[in-house]
Amino acid sequence: MRRLLPAPTDRLRFREMSTDDLDAMAALLGDPEVMAFYPAPKTREESRAWIEGNRERYAEHGHGLWIVETHDGGFVGDCGITWQAVNGSPVLEVGYHVRRDLQGRGFATEAAGACLALVKQELSPTLLTAIVHPENLASRRVAEKLGMTHIDDDRAHPWIVRTVMGITVQPA
Ligand SMILES: CC(C)(COP(=O)(O)OP(=O)(O)OC[C@H]1O[C@@H](n2cnc3c(N)ncnc32)[C@H](O)[C@@H]1OP(=O)(O)O)[C@@H](O)C(=O)NCCC(=O)NCCS
Repeated sequence: MRRLLPAPTDRLRFREMSTDDLDAMAALLGDPEVMAFYPAPKTREESRAWIEGNRERYAEHGHGLWIVETHDGGFVGDCGITWQAVNGSPVLEVGYHVRRDLQGRGFATEAAGACLALVKQELSPTLLTAIVHPENLASRRVAEKLGMTHIDDDRAHPWIVRTVMGITVQPA
């Protein structure tokens, strides 16, 4: 599978994650604030599995969540394109996690915008979603700034109804 990568932006660049990133990813995914809308923060071993899962995605689909860093190599978080399920049907999703101390600077919007451009160039026409916890207003706001609107509700899990934001991406 041809491996895709979003183009660099003014402040950010992307690269595939590897186990060399375990310390940074375990700090990100182990942060209770970053993971406030997940069942629990991730342990170091769960963060290792997260990295391995994304490496499998790169090989199988050509995309996954990538490391996002500043141009001097400073770790910002992860962002990328994955296959998810909404009410049992596969959809492409853009996902993002930004280090707590770097939130509120537009990094998620900038990184997700680069992913949207990649989808437009390489994977369109397609629906691109962001599946968000109904109380995760920052995540919803990032999706809105990409041009997404509330298109559906995912009711696959009995304990939560997730808000599905989406945009139909057409070729350039
Ligand atoms: C969601 C997340 C990635 C946003 O990262 P970020 O780099 O801070 O986002 P940006 O700075 O690009 O933009 C955030 C937008 O949300 C808004 N926002 C932030 N916190 C908010 C809140 N509590 N309520 C409402 N809006 C909020 C910001 O004002 C900004 O919108 P604006 O430009 O119109 O003012 C970050 O909060 C995060 O990592 N959260 C934890 C992980 C997560 O939930 N990821 C999404 C899983 S679906």
